Amino acid sequence: MAHIDVLDLPLVLLSNRGPVSFDRDASGRTVNRGAGGLVSALAGLAEHLEDAVWVCGAATEEDAAVAREATGQALLVQTHPIPHLVDPRFGDAVPDGPAIKVRMVVTDPAAYADFYSIWSNPILWFVQHGLYGRSLSPVLTQAEHDAFENGYVVVNRAYADAVADEVRARGGKALVLLQDYHFYLVAEHVRQQCPDVVLTHFVHIPWPGPDEWRVLPADIRERLLTGLLGSDVVGFHTRRYARNFVLCAGELLGLPTDLDALTITVGDRTVRARYYPISVDPAALDTTLASEQVNAHVAMLRYIFLDEDRQLMLRVDRTDPSKNVVRGFLAFGTLLEQHPELVGKVSFLALLQPSRTDVPEYADYIALIGGVVAEINAKYTKEGRQPIDLRMVEDFPLAVAAYSICDVLVVNAIADGMNLVAKEVAVVNRRGGVLALSETAGAHEELGEFAVTLHPFDIQQMADAFYTALTMPLEERHRRLAAAAEQVRTHDVARWLGDQLTDLRRIAGFA
Ligand code: G6P
Repeated sequence: MAHIDVLDLPLVLLSNRGPVSFDRDASGRTVNRGAGGLVSALAGLAEHLEDAVWVCGAATEEDAAVAREATGQALLVQTHPIPHLVDPRFGDAVPDGPAIKVRMVVTDPAAYADFYSIWSNPILWFVQHGLYGRSLSPVLTQAEHDAFENGYVVVNRAYADAVADEVRARGGKALVLLQDYHFYLVAEHVRQQCPDVVLTHFVHIPWPGPDEWRVLPADIRERLLTGLLGSDVVGFHTRRYARNFVLCAGELLGLPTDLDALTITVGDRTVRARYYPISVDPAALDTTLASEQVNAHVAMLRYIFLDEDRQLMLRVDRTDPSKNVVRGFLAFGTLLEQHPELVGKVSFLALLQPSRTDVPEYADYIALIGGVVAEINAKYTKEGRQPIDLRMVEDFPLAVAAYSICDVLVVNAIADGMNLVAKEVAVVNRRGGVLALSETAGAHEELGEFAVTLHPFDIQQMADAFYTALTMPLEERHRRLAAAAEQVRTHDVARWLGDQLTDLRRIAGFA
């Protein structure tokens, strides 16, 4: 990753999922590096710095065991070449490769369940992605109020205390980078305990306007907003989300705001809303694409889907209702109905990773997806070829192989903070793949002009857009793909982080 400009301050990071996670197999304790864009971006930074610590949740039983052994202190974990715990008790006190200090917070399981499976997902996730139908949902009862007080508030306090502890261990002055919707109350608590921090909270999901937030009771939405306003900067992926945040502070809290400057006045402080589109690490993707594992998958996928003049549509998503998988397949069914010549010629490969299955809305969604796939496959199977190949897997090399050879990538999310799959495909596709991109995905702001735009609720429009993408002249497809790839390569994840840190230097008076 390119050089990252850092502040002259120690760094404290917070996210729900951490950079590493522990497990146990026959050989004993194992360490896995976390996956995903956010973790790789921030791990690159944390590994770089002497005095950085990453506060996160204990995600597995073994994480909790490790955290208990560390008696609440941070641990040192070497991340490369072989991830392992650097344990001074076994004389392994000095890492011989990049390492990260990690502090895993263990909270009461019932409080964590209220925090994660009731408030973070689904309630906040559903409000922010506009997933509630409103005629029948949400239904907020005393149980949800209790889950807020005993779950979201309690867990946020526990994490805020851990963050404040780490800031104090660094002399009370540190750069604190908070991540995502799990922790809207943390900034305020940390600032109360450590008034000299430079604090930024990055929200990785959409931020809707004030009327969407009115779905939540006034005291709760006001506490969430006030919590976030403990930050110096609240970061988003797009200008639209940043603007919505400023509108919320003005309308829902009655604070003075400046919509052009995207600032909010809170007492004697100025809180800035900023936007920095997150991205991918193109060099890492190039390496993955060149690997033997990916090559083997490419050969297999070509054999299954791309003989003669056949074409491949692809989607890669978590099984999240915001991804709009069901309507995506309905639109594909409409395409086959209206263009029978495509039956047997176009396949749709869906690589879906089961997600948050402890939340009923998510479990139900998987069943709905299965139903619509069965219907379309029953109707349009030709000469033994099923039009939809649905695989419930989390397999990054397989996904990269599919990225590289698809004709159309489908991202028809109802709302999506960014959508990194679109950026990954732009970098690794070698077939003139067309991005079919929802106008409500954050990535559309950057890549929309090179894509075929999808309207996530309009099945006919999506079917027509798929047809346009599949029949687009090859030269045009390659021209668009090259332009999208150029946009992503020049706006990579290092830039996402670098731009934030440069702004923070300015805000904190270091530049
Ligand atoms: C989104 C969120 C992340 C979250 C991820 C996976 O990308 O912005 O904070 O970690 O989804 O969700 P999960 O609930 O499995 O952590």
